[in-house]
Amino acid sequence: MNLIVAVDRNWAIGQNGDQLVYIPEDLKRFKALTLGHPVVLGRKTLATFPGGRPLKGRRNLILSRDPAFAPEGAEVFRDLDALLAAAPEDAFVIGGGSVYRALLARCDTAYVTQIDAAFPADCWFPNLDQAADWLVAERSAPLSHEDLTFRYTTYLRKIGQDRP
Ligand SMILES: NC(=O)c1ccc[n+]([C@@H]2O[C@H](COP(=O)([O-])OP(=O)(O)OC[C@H]3O[C@@H](n4cnc5c(N)ncnc54)[C@H](OP(=O)(O)O)[C@@H]3O)[C@@H](O)[C@H]2O)c1
Repeated sequence: MNLIVAVDRNWAIGQNGDQLVYIPEDLKRFKALTLGHPVVLGRKTLATFPGGRPLKGRRNLILSRDPAFAPEGAEVFRDLDALLAAAPEDAFVIGGGSVYRALLARCDTAYVTQIDAAFPADCWFPNLDQAADWLVAERSAPLSHEDLTFRYTTYLRKIGQDRP
C-alpha cells in the first residue's frame, strides 16, 4: 500500500481533531494522487471531511470498532485483519495518526508534504528520516502558499526490508 500525509517540521499532523493547515495546492495533489484508488482512514479522520462524508471517486475503507457506525458510501472494518483482507495493493492510507501507525509497516511508498513550520499539535506521524527502513526517493523544490514554505518528498521502503 501507499500512504499520503502532510507533516510539519516536527512531523506533527493534527491538533484538536483537525488538520494543522489546509494548503489548496496540496489538496489538489492529494486528489490527483488518490483519485481512482481506495483510501484507508480512521473514523476520526472521516469526521474532518466536509459533512463527514466519504471522499468521492474512491472506495473509502474506514476503520471503526463501533458496531453502530455505518456511514453511507463507505465500507467499515472493525479490525486490521478485516481491513487488510479487503484493501488492494494500490490503496492509499490517508490517516489519521492511529491508522498511519498501524499500517506504516504495510506501506512501500510514502508521499509526504513537508511544511516548514512548527504548529501546536497533539498528533504526530513517525519521523521517516530517522527510520532505518525508509529512504528519500524524490524531493521537490520548495513551494509556497501565503507565508508557508512546503515541499513534496517521496519516501520508499528500502529494498530488502520485507514487510510483515
Ligand atoms: N496531516 C495529515 O496528512 C492528516 C491526515 C489525516 C488525519 N490527520 C489528523 O489526524 C488526527 C486524527 O488522528 P487520530 O489518530 O486521532 O484518529 P484516526 O486514526 O483518524 O481515527 C481513529 C479511529 O479509527 C478507528 N480505528 C483506529 N484503529 C483501529 C483498528 N485497529 N481497528 C478498528 N478501528 C480502528 C477507531 O474508531 P472508533 O473510535 O469508531 O472505534 C479510532 O477511534 C486529526 O487531527 C486529523 O486532522 C492529519
